[in-house]
Amino acid sequence: MDTSFVAREQTRMLGELSEFLSIPSVSALPAHAADCRRAAEWLREELVSLGCPTVELLEGQGHPVVWAESPRVAGRPTLLIYGHYDVQPPDPLDEWITPPFEPTVRGGGLYARGAADDKGQVFCLLKAYETTLDSDRRPPLNVNFIFEGEEESGGHVIADLLRAEPERTRADAVLVCDMSYFAPGWPAVYTALRGLCYAEISVRTLERDLHSGTYGGVAPNALETLVRLLAKLKDADGEIQIPKLYKAVEPPTKHELKTWKQLPFDKTTFLRDEVTGQVLTGLKEYSIFERVWALPTFEIHGIKGGFVGEGAKTVIPAQATAKVSLRLVPGQSYAKVGKQLERAVAALAPRWAEVKVNLLHGGDPVRVDVGHPAFAVLDEAFSAVTGRPAVRVRAGGSIPIIPELGLAGAPVLLTGIGLPDDGLHSPNEKLDLAQLWGGIEIFGRFFDLFAEKGAVTETSAASYPLPVPSA
Ligand code: BES
Ligand code: MN
Ligand code: MN
Repeated sequence: MDTSFVAREQTRMLGELSEFLSIPSVSALPAHAADCRRAAEWLREELVSLGCPTVELLEGQGHPVVWAESPRVAGRPTLLIYGHYDVQPPDPLDEWITPPFEPTVRGGGLYARGAADDKGQVFCLLKAYETTLDSDRRPPLNVNFIFEGEEESGGHVIADLLRAEPERTRADAVLVCDMSYFAPGWPAVYTALRGLCYAEISVRTLERDLHSGTYGGVAPNALETLVRLLAKLKDADGEIQIPKLYKAVEPPTKHELKTWKQLPFDKTTFLRDEVTGQVLTGLKEYSIFERVWALPTFEIHGIKGGFVGEGAKTVIPAQATAKVSLRLVPGQSYAKVGKQLERAVAALAPRWAEVKVNLLHGGDPVRVDVGHPAFAVLDEAFSAVTGRPAVRVRAGGSIPIIPELGLAGAPVLLTGIGLPDDGLHSPNEKLDLAQLWGGIEIFGRFFDLFAEKGAVTETSAASYPLPVPSA
């Protein structure tokens, strides 16, 4: 690769990335559907200008998938690159120091919604690819790109596409750059992702809202009924009270526990700078890493019902809804946990309330076998630039489509150039620019190295254990 590329092209690249980040591609909000399409179009133009002969927007019921194929290079391996161009809603807006869709450089960071999750990381891979092109814009290996616009909001355009056309995942490796270093200077590859089960629990106790004076004391309050029910789903020690929920959980291996103990980690700074609370919660008999990587969670995201406007209104709400989710770990499945949640809620519902569970979306947890030689190639690239191979850790977060990306048998390399304090999904999300420039060099090297070493022989393709979605 051309190592002076970054120094020479920084200003141009910052301009391009800022343009991409200025598009408010918030997939969850229908009002931003056109912006999601603009972000997809932005990628289409970028991929065309990088010299890809095939670039398409694949349509479904939702935001389009961007698909591109690099020029074919005979006898060289094929790499599939996955990322997402959609972003989380930027609220609360008044907490942003500069507006979420006006990318701003401050203290070595580029601040914008999507800077780290995931537009900035997608951009990093596109520029890394650019560094490997020869004067005819030919890459050293075959690259297919697949970028979705519904990762953050539970859409299924990409899942429908891959179900109909699974051959798109045929590759010698899949590279996903949507995560972070374990700590500054400590690149990471991920051996597992948690799954998700996202649901709404709604309660109706009355036909209509009532005067809380006239009927207070006798009328069943929907909000009260809902919060009592929610409170029973997790006890004060952090144990989730859904029968048999923990039964399928596969505990981490001895080797994993040993690796995690050796990670550079300071609980006090984690609590103060990342969590920003007074205490850490959850099952005290497990380490922090076990609680965020290897155990299921139950969280309440929001509760709607009754009166929340200015001033006071004396009302007994007839109806209330909570948005909740469970994170799932290897051994568990979205389908099973969804049923367990429905059953647990039904069992807790009082006879006089109408209680419904609406499963909104989810995904299975993933385990990745990092024994495939592609991981050694990635380590070589990380080592060359950062001086360290990637540490093997798990992620607490989820990327619903990952199980499907591995179905054709390719190893899935889950990694990234973010830092733990990037503030994903929070106000003032940023990408550290040194991480971006370093990342361009790392992945440029990875492409060159994988082009040489990643060619899959019959035997290696057949004999390496592959990432499988857990049952
Ligand atoms: N990039 C994240 C997932 C992630 C975060 C992985 C941190 C590893 C570490 C992704 O964009 C994300 O936020 N996923 C959602 C998925 C959900 C909306 C279905 C998540 O985890 O909440
Ligand atoms: Mn992401
Ligand atoms: Mn995200």
